[in-house]
Amino acid sequence: MNDHEDLVSVQNPAYSWLTSFSIKNPHKVAIMTPFDIINKKQKGEPVTMLTAYDYPTAKMLDEAGIDMILVGDSLGMVVLGYESTVPVTMDEMIHHARSVCRGAKKSLVIGDMPYLSYQINTVEAVRNAGRFIKEAGCQAVKMEGGSEYADTVRALVKAGIPVMAHIGLTPQTATALGGYKVQGKDIGSAKRIWNDARALAEAGAFAILLECVPANLAKKITEDVNIPTIGIGAGPHCDGQVLVFHDLVGLYPKFTPKFAKKYADLAPVIKKAVEDFRDEVITRKFPETCHSFAGDDNLLNLIT
Ligand code: KIV
Repeated sequence: MNDHEDLVSVQNPAYSWLTSFSIKNPHKVAIMTPFDIINKKQKGEPVTMLTAYDYPTAKMLDEAGIDMILVGDSLGMVVLGYESTVPVTMDEMIHHARSVCRGAKKSLVIGDMPYLSYQINTVEAVRNAGRFIKEAGCQAVKMEGGSEYADTVRALVKAGIPVMAHIGLTPQTATALGGYKVQGKDIGSAKRIWNDARALAEAGAFAILLECVPANLAKKITEDVNIPTIGIGAGPHCDGQVLVFHDLVGLYPKFTPKFAKKYADLAPVIKKAVEDFRDEVITRKFPETCHSFAGDDNLLNLIT
């Protein structure tokens, strides 16, 4: 019995799809698979994940060796300028996911299921998740929600679509949770989140994103499920970490969450470059000879 079979038969029969799941993207080489991500947990290797919404960013993340790229519905706020993730449509997600998939050769690309793309029924969920795979070239989808979506996870897995679950703070339904607040601080909600994690792992999710939960709860969940936990505002004990790219590089100055670390502050750098361009055009410093193409003056005499 090899490692793969061991995972499938001994740990959770729900992962049987892993044996038959193959990535068919001719443009990619040695692509990261959901199986590799699960394997990282087994080996105690941290998993890295970042969001991207376009080709150049995806290419940079891929070349930097990021394991998973999430085309997050955070796109609605950080790229499209909406007030929340709620208005984001499937068509917007597919448009951006297609460009990300063109830029990522090795990273596993995950399409984020937007609000109302999977809540209505499992048929809608499979159809919309399938669009990420068929039309965009993603290898997996992510879906917000707890054990109430275990059957949906099962339906997607049955259709051959790997699923990352997302519990704790779920921004699409933040209003119902009392706003953008840390979840699982009292025994009732901590137990519910722990139960959700177990139910979603049991249903066949290949990983669980834990957003804004206390570090000790994230630690317990990480110990108690056999699929990787990917944390955002969930402390250091998760199997992996994810950040929104625009928070990491300081491109969403409107708001930086407490859990986000700004590794670069690009907004002022870009603003300064744009101001310099504006000034140089106004003062006729740009373009210089080196930015221009020389022509034969004699030719101009022939233009009458
Ligand atoms: O949409 C998103 O960017 C997310 C974050 C929590 C990573 O789901």
